[in-house]
Amino acid sequence: MSSNKIQKICCIGAGYVGGPTMSVIADKCPDLEIRVVDINKERIDAWNDSDLNKLPIYEPGLDRIISRTRGRNLFFSSEMEKSISDADMVFISVNTPTKTKGLGAGQASDLSWVEASARQVAKYAKGHTIVIEKSTLPVRTAQAIKEILNTANREDQKNQISKTFSVLSNPEFLAEGTAINDLEKPDRVLIGGEDLEAVNALVNVYMNWVPRNQIICTNLWSSELSKLAANAFLAQRISSINSISAFCEATGADVKEVAKAIGTDKRIGNQFLRAGPGFGGSCFKKDILNLVYLSGYFGLPEVAKYWNQVVVINTWQQDRIYKIVLEKLFGTVNGKNIAILGFSFKANTNDTRESPAIRICSELLEEGAVLSIYDPKVSSERIEEDLEKFSFNNQCIWKMANSIPEALKNVDAVLILTAWDEFFGLDWNYLASLMRSPAWVFDTRSVVNRQEIENTGLNLWKLGEGD
Ligand code: UDX
Ligand code: ADP
Repeated sequence: MSSNKIQKICCIGAGYVGGPTMSVIADKCPDLEIRVVDINKERIDAWNDSDLNKLPIYEPGLDRIISRTRGRNLFFSSEMEKSISDADMVFISVNTPTKTKGLGAGQASDLSWVEASARQVAKYAKGHTIVIEKSTLPVRTAQAIKEILNTANREDQKNQISKTFSVLSNPEFLAEGTAINDLEKPDRVLIGGEDLEAVNALVNVYMNWVPRNQIICTNLWSSELSKLAANAFLAQRISSINSISAFCEATGADVKEVAKAIGTDKRIGNQFLRAGPGFGGSCFKKDILNLVYLSGYFGLPEVAKYWNQVVVINTWQQDRIYKIVLEKLFGTVNGKNIAILGFSFKANTNDTRESPAIRICSELLEEGAVLSIYDPKVSSERIEEDLEKFSFNNQCIWKMANSIPEALKNVDAVLILTAWDEFFGLDWNYLASLMRSPAWVFDTRSVVNRQEIENTGLNLWKLGEGD
């Protein structure tokens, strides 16, 4: 296929990756027609809602792009067959959660959705189709996709239907909350594949807005592994600084000062050194666990153990926080009111997957605390689902607050878990007057100013500084 033949793109999966990625491609390539399909009809309806506040995901700047591309060259639909058969290029962008049962449970990725998508492509594609794996996947998944597509191809050949496929890996490096900027100005685009024509076709799509020298082409497996390795390295930095945060609290050092001092070393760099309640999101833990699983599979137990420790520290950090809350509140939170500010795994997203808030809130609820939770973008239905996963013997008591003052009314403590903009520069004099006395502020994201809090008579504990 010659690259200039790409006219129609289909993306399977209208989630946090597929939605924003296709919106930006549609915006930058007005000559391409892009259809995003999903088995979840409700999600498709939400993407098509005329009220842009009802888009299924919150991502700064996304509504602006949707408003100029949707209906022009970007379409969200449930019409799987036609969208795939018309497409020259199909992106697979479906969920790949960690397996919960069977071989590799708790570590390996569940590829059911990827496999189902590949089967749909195999069934409906016509002529030559470039299939691109976009979901975060373990190394060698492209091979599995190839095998599914080739099997279908052999069957069709018997029926004298000619269809051919090229499989590419094109991992996504966008971070939620900054997805639009990451897509519009990526550090690099990575494309893995052996079929040069297919690779060039995809390069040409990106060259509509990404300089050629930022598009790295490599083989399939290097591309797949680079994604896992990049996320593992990023997560490792967070666990490293979080381990140092505990050290700072014990010694009187300040983790922000330490991060600043080490970050000025060019070899270390100043990004991803913010201590906090641990990393969340759909990728980091899943990717590291994949790496751990594959290391074991390939007979590299020391490598597996090394990366697993990044996850161990992450869970430990979350547990450490709830235990500190407990300890400061005289060893018990039973019946005490605690406000939670921020439930998403980071600011500027409504995503709660693997959010530290889930584990920390669950532990506090298990201890008998009564929580009032405020988050500017996460819905109460989402929180209910997240907290339902845990059994509290019917003792689960939490409520959603519609504002920060409502959340803080009559509480014994407030725990800040996400660095939403609106949590900075709050009027703590006023907020302190709403809280019970003596009350605590637990700040895990370095949001508040120590002097300001202490002037109000509130007690303060800051992660990486202590009290
Ligand atoms: C990550 C990768 O950054 C992205 O390249 C990949 O494609 C998907 O996974 P994402 O999970 O959306 O993106 O957000 P990111 O900004 O990386 O944050 C992940 C978690 O780490 C969040 O919980 C965040 O609060 C935490 N974090 C990040 C810190 O605790 N400290 C930091 O310094 C940076
Ligand atoms: P990500 O963060 O990787 O984008 P999401 O869970 O947000 O993950 O989105 C994945 C989307 O893929 C979901 O909306 C899900 O309904 C969709 N999906 C999963 N399997 C299929 C499939 N076989 N065909 C179409 N859509 C699918």
